[in-house]
Amino acid sequence: MEAARGTKIVIVGAGMVGSTTAFTLLLRGRATELILIDYNKEKAFGDALDMNHAMPFIGKTTVRAGDYEDCAGADIIIIAAGAAQKPGETRLDLLKKNVGIFEGIVDNIVKYTKDAILLVATNPVDIMSYFTWKRSGYPMNRVVGSGTLLDTARLRYLISEQKNMDPRSVHAHIVGEHGDSELALWSLTNLAGMHLEFTEEEQHQLHEDTKNAAYGIIKAKGSTYYAIALALDRIVTAILRDEGAILNVSTLLEDFHGNNDVYLGVPCIVDRTGVREVIKVPMNDDEKQRFSASAKKMREQLDSIEQFM
Ligand SMILES: NC(=O)c1ccc[n+]([C@@H]2O[C@H](COP(=O)([O-])OP(=O)(O)OC[C@H]3O[C@@H](n4cnc5c(N)ncnc54)[C@H](O)[C@@H]3O)[C@@H](O)[C@H]2O)c1
Repeated sequence: MEAARGTKIVIVGAGMVGSTTAFTLLLRGRATELILIDYNKEKAFGDALDMNHAMPFIGKTTVRAGDYEDCAGADIIIIAAGAAQKPGETRLDLLKKNVGIFEGIVDNIVKYTKDAILLVATNPVDIMSYFTWKRSGYPMNRVVGSGTLLDTARLRYLISEQKNMDPRSVHAHIVGEHGDSELALWSLTNLAGMHLEFTEEEQHQLHEDTKNAAYGIIKAKGSTYYAIALALDRIVTAILRDEGAILNVSTLLEDFHGNNDVYLGVPCIVDRTGVREVIKVPMNDDEKQRFSASAKKMREQLDSIEQFM
């Protein structure tokens, strides 16, 4: 895809996720200007320089380390800064650490722009997205979390392996928390519009493997970054191309099956305005109950950080 003229993307946090996302956006030509901001300025500088040496192979894009004043005029600001999940640590364990980090980041961003779309990847992503929305004063449609897009991709991949199919042709949805209380909407799982049936045992196994995927990868190599980079690229593309794509991102719930005032992953229409609309997909009683439990868990976590918002 050709970059739209003058597309500026800022990435705050050039760690494994941020730098892999920058490289993915670079390879796919999504921006004319990519700015890396990190607390560790040397790391951002080194990444930018390394990527600059790729230009003779892929053509020119401006990639450089920067600071918050570079947020002025940005189309999208991706936030992937913070502490990463340690082996055995839940995403919610990260909460307090990352709230402290986000106070400074969000306050700095809003000094320079009120017009960007803020795309949050840092975990616990639903809480950090809500925090970013509240603290920034941005409208909810322009603060988007990566939500359960990655989890949904993981489920689609697992089903595709089982059925020996292209994962892009498998339709399935993980909703709720990007974390332990997420759930699969089995009634919406389909191939070519035809409902896919799974036994209870199969559903249990697919759900467990999806939910625990990150723990397995972190145990094996310390962190996950390739698939999340492509998930973020998918959201960026839906925004920049004004696609109206349906993606399971984290957004503010307003009477979503009776759930309110939390950010959670649900199917959303994503376009140049950010989240244009939340799709109130049907859920059976069991799914509604589990989704509400996920929302309740988020609300409790949010209450514990109320004083910082
Ligand atoms: N949403 C998802 O699906 C998903 C998937 C994978 C990882 N993550 C999350 O993404 C985050 C980043 O993970 P990672 O593996 O890249 O971690 P990392 O430790 O490699 O990178 C984090 C970066 O943030 C920087 N940083 C810390 N404080 C900062 C500040 N105040 N300002 C600017 N930069 C700061 C650090 O210097 C570091 O470079 C984690 O919270 C992780 O859990 C989310």
